[in-house]
Amino acid sequence: MDATQRWNARELYWITRNGLKMTGMPAWEHHLSQDDLWAVVAFVRKMPKLTPAEFAEMVRAPVSRAESCEPQSGAALLDADPMRGKRALYAYACIACHTIAGTVQSNPQVGPPLDGMGRRTRIAGVLDNTNDNMVRWLRETDAVKHGTAMPTMGVSEQDAHDIAAYLATLR
Ligand code: HEC
Repeated sequence: MDATQRWNARELYWITRNGLKMTGMPAWEHHLSQDDLWAVVAFVRKMPKLTPAEFAEMVRAPVSRAESCEPQSGAALLDADPMRGKRALYAYACIACHTIAGTVQSNPQVGPPLDGMGRRTRIAGVLDNTNDNMVRWLRETDAVKHGTAMPTMGVSEQDAHDIAAYLATLR
């Protein structure tokens, strides 16, 4: 039976916070604030029934927070930072759908694993795997590949650059 039906919200919160050693689930205590932990719980409970559009809607809160930190339009972007990019995978809940071997384990696995992304030649089978194309994929997912099961996540430009920098390190 799947975890969302077996456990109530409080139990899921505890599991999310402390991790489950047996399943190899990482403890997120150090990655997520209290609010974010509850957001993950709410998310995990609804996940199996969500459509991509509903998912994008649900994660809008962290997204708008990310956008409010974005430089004013016209201001230069900060240098892409892989560590910020890695954190953004949690903030945008990319990890709900994507596994990265040795880092995060998503369950259910909706999207393809992202390990080795830095040495692949194509993105989602449709774009050459360059930095600019990765930023485009992350920001304009459905425009790049119409009807894809990956939702357009509302990733800010800065976050997209940081995530692309992080994914490029996965070899
Ligand atoms: C609701 C599930 C879901 C979420 C959330 C999600 N993705 Fe995806 N992702 C997918 C699916 C499904 C695909 C395969 C798309 C395709 O090939 O049409 C994909 C493909 C990708 C690819 C291309 C992988 C490849 O093998 O070429 C990358 C990179 C990626 N996602 C990164 C991200 C990042 C970064 C985030 C967070 C900002 C994210 N995804 C959020 C489901 C998701």
